[in-house]
Amino acid sequence: MNPCPSCRPRHAAGRIVRRLAALVLACGVATVWAAAPDAPTLAPAPPVPNTLQQRIAACVACHGEHGEGTPDSGFFPRLAGKPAGYLARQLTDFQRGLRKYAPMEYTVRGLDPAYLREIADYFSAQQVPYVRSKLPILPPAALTRGAQLVSEGDARRGIPACERCHGKQLTGVEPDIPGLVGLPYDYLSAQLGAWRTHTRATVAPDCMAHIAGRLDAADISAVAAWIASRELPADMHAQPAGSVDPPLRCGVLAGSQTGT
Ligand code: HEC
Ligand code: HEC
Repeated sequence: MNPCPSCRPRHAAGRIVRRLAALVLACGVATVWAAAPDAPTLAPAPPVPNTLQQRIAACVACHGEHGEGTPDSGFFPRLAGKPAGYLARQLTDFQRGLRKYAPMEYTVRGLDPAYLREIADYFSAQQVPYVRSKLPILPPAALTRGAQLVSEGDARRGIPACERCHGKQLTGVEPDIPGLVGLPYDYLSAQLGAWRTHTRATVAPDCMAHIAGRLDAADISAVAAWIASRELPADMHAQPAGSVDPPLRCGVLAGSQTGT
């Protein structure tokens, strides 16, 4: 006999709800959700066409049809035009729990590398205009500090200049280094904070964890505000592969990096 007759069904119902949630995310079939409360058993899902459009259906609800994200806040980050190698690796990092955001971890769980690569290629190829985002009001000294971090770094604190890896115009470098210009203040500062609080990490040595760990809260605000205030370069494409010589070792650049 079941010692707790009311427990099992509740667990089973929890499992069904979780499976349904997975289906909604994986297939974008939002209507399945409506049937959940009354459906004691899971009806077989209708066959889903195996097309790229179908694969990205689960993503566009948050990131937009062309990966434009939410340009104002950056809460749902832009994917359009970011280097494909960079995007694919973020998906793997969410799968491996290195980068933490539960809905993303859930959405990419179990997807194979070829599939992730195809999705990354799709979003990387999207051309969507960048939109300027709102800025916090900071004293001029903070913006000067931000500019200094980007172009010179802070040798005393062991912080290399951002542009030495992200490119002279901060548009990133193919295939693995993302651009920073055009990203909203909120997103930039949140990501730098995430490296400090260990909710974002990547393959070791994680050069960005090293850098973010040396920036204090005022530096993060300053550098994010300065970057977000930049005029957008006419050509927002990432620089060609091999066009920078990173001053620190980054695990994600292994193979393409010769220096130390
Ligand atoms: C429920 C909303 C949601 C869904 C669905 C979703 N994402 Fe995300 N995604 C986010 C949020 C929020 C972040 C930022 C998390 C963070 O701050 O680390 C993110 C981050 C990302 C990143 C990292 C972006 C960067 O520039 O570093 C990639 C790549 C990505 N998502 C791709 C996808 C793909 C592909 C899918 C579909 C298979 C998907 N997302 C589905 C909300 C979502
Ligand atoms: C030694 C090379 C290097 C330097 C110097 C560097 N970065 Fe990075 N940065 C990277 C790499 C590589 C990534 C991609 C990390 C990943 O894949 O998770 C990255 C990612 C980022 C991201 C995440 C972008 C996104 O779309 O989510 C931000 C924000 C960032 N860097 C800010 C900075 C700032 C600010 C500085 C200067 C203070 C800086 N970086 C200096 C190599 C560098």
